[in-house]
Amino acid sequence: MEKFYLLVALLALGGSCLGDEVNENDTDSGVYSYTTNFFTVPLDHFSFARRETFKIRYLVNDTYWDKKNNGPIFLYTGNEGSVEAFAENTGFMWDIAEEFGAALVFAEHRFYGQSSPPDTLKYKLENSKIRIMGYLTVTQTLADFAKLITAFKEENGAENSPVIAFGGSYGGVLTAWLRMKYPHVVAGGIASSAPFYLGNVPCETYDASLASIFGQNGNGNCVNVIRKSWSYLNHLGKTSKGRKWLTKAWRMCDPIEKDLPANPVKAFCSELQDTDPTNEKQVMRDMFQAINIYMNNSGYATCFDYSDDSMYSTSYSSNDDTAFNYQSCTELIDPECDDGVHDFFEPQTWDFAEFAQQCYDTYHVKPDASRVNLFFGGKDIIAASNIVFSNGLLDPWYAYGVLGNLSDSLIAVIIREGAHHLDLRAANEADPPSVVTARNLEKTMIKQWISQYHENQVKIQNVFAQF
Ligand SMILES: *[C@@H]1O[C@H](CO)[C@@H](O)[C@H](O)[C@H]1NC(C)=O
Ligand SMILES: *[C@@H]1O[C@H](CO)[C@@H](O)[C@H](O)[C@H]1NC(C)=O
Ligand SMILES: *[C@@H]1O[C@H](CO)[C@@H](O)[C@H](O)[C@H]1NC(C)=O
Ligand SMILES: *[C@@H]1O[C@H](CO)[C@@H](O)[C@H](O)[C@H]1NC(C)=O
Repeated sequence: MEKFYLLVALLALGGSCLGDEVNENDTDSGVYSYTTNFFTVPLDHFSFARRETFKIRYLVNDTYWDKKNNGPIFLYTGNEGSVEAFAENTGFMWDIAEEFGAALVFAEHRFYGQSSPPDTLKYKLENSKIRIMGYLTVTQTLADFAKLITAFKEENGAENSPVIAFGGSYGGVLTAWLRMKYPHVVAGGIASSAPFYLGNVPCETYDASLASIFGQNGNGNCVNVIRKSWSYLNHLGKTSKGRKWLTKAWRMCDPIEKDLPANPVKAFCSELQDTDPTNEKQVMRDMFQAINIYMNNSGYATCFDYSDDSMYSTSYSSNDDTAFNYQSCTELIDPECDDGVHDFFEPQTWDFAEFAQQCYDTYHVKPDASRVNLFFGGKDIIAASNIVFSNGLLDPWYAYGVLGNLSDSLIAVIIREGAHHLDLRAANEADPPSVVTARNLEKTMIKQWISQYHENQVKIQNVFAQF
């Protein structure tokens, strides 16, 4: 149930990040057209011990590509879900493709969507006591993207076209890492709402950020009422009479979720403005009204099934869920805890040993957060270049983001009125000025990276002309 509240809060803020990307039916599905292709990748890029391969999916639209003049390739570095959803929710790339004469390529993350190794390969490895999930790592994924886009350039005779990467959320982290690891493949990257410092900040960070957003954008009473609701929930849950009351008051059972109000936190909190935090039933009734804004926006819901996972991960298949849980149990560890003071949850400590045991019981793996820090630098990415990190202050994930400029080419963009990767979405009349400014800065940076790329190509050629 606690998870449910968190989910409501996340929905309110325009979708979560890790573990909850986009809702297929909440988008302009079908607005964009592209061709669907598959690319063969090695199961293991990093040793000669395995020779198996499988296919990852990628989507292409080259209608606006000015290939003759070395027009750029915009590459979306897919995250935890089906790639169509990311293509459809990254309107910014489509909006600027014509102006840049750019090709659009959306690459699917290995083990998600239609980019999983076939079962035959899985069984073959299992016969040798090898778990195929072991090949689901960020380093393998980045190598897939680098190999795919290099082959794409070759196939198209576009060796001199610069590649610009884009990604939102976990996809934004991948964009930044791709530029850091493969600067010769990717000229620059827009990492939007990337929880880049995941695992490198205190465990209270996320929930404190959530509560602070509700405090600042809602009203003074809102955070108090939500915080109080936990003990009431526990209390009501203890007796059959209490449970009966709650079942009725919260109309428990199919959620329908459509467009959210323009300022969802405000709308949510407005239901809690006059609630007396000491009045148990009032708190719980008003919480329902607040939640109802999201759950019954269509006005067609008859009752709500709070335990139904599909309501916050509608574009997910169970394979995608498994893959993401696996990643959360190996490299992408998100320690979360609550003190009940800076957040609006009940106090809860982060117990790494217990978490590690659960991971071991489920997937036979031991979490190791130090790996990505070793591979990518953790807090110290100062040697990297050409990355824009954008973050919206209405998105609790911003607290994990790069929020300050690290150099002339590691740029932080703060979008005051921005929810989760709003800058990557298609331009919209309702866009706040801060997101318009952010997109313009991103375009300026992309133009710089492109001309820098062409200048660098000339330098490289001049060096080789000596031989
Ligand atoms: C590429 O996208 C543009 C703009 O959405 C569209 O007009 C065009 O038909 C698309 N091209 C292909 C090959 O799908
Ligand atoms: C959903 O909204 C409609 C219209 O306001 C209302 O009639 C219906 O009872 C609501 N459903 C629930 C479960 O509250
Ligand atoms: C999305 O809409 C389609 C068509 O209306 C429907 O078949 C599908 O079940 C919906 N998916 C979700 C996740 O609601
Ligand atoms: C970083 O630098 C850019 C470009 O100079 C500037 O627009 C932006 O506001 C800076 N970001 C922060 C967080 O100060």
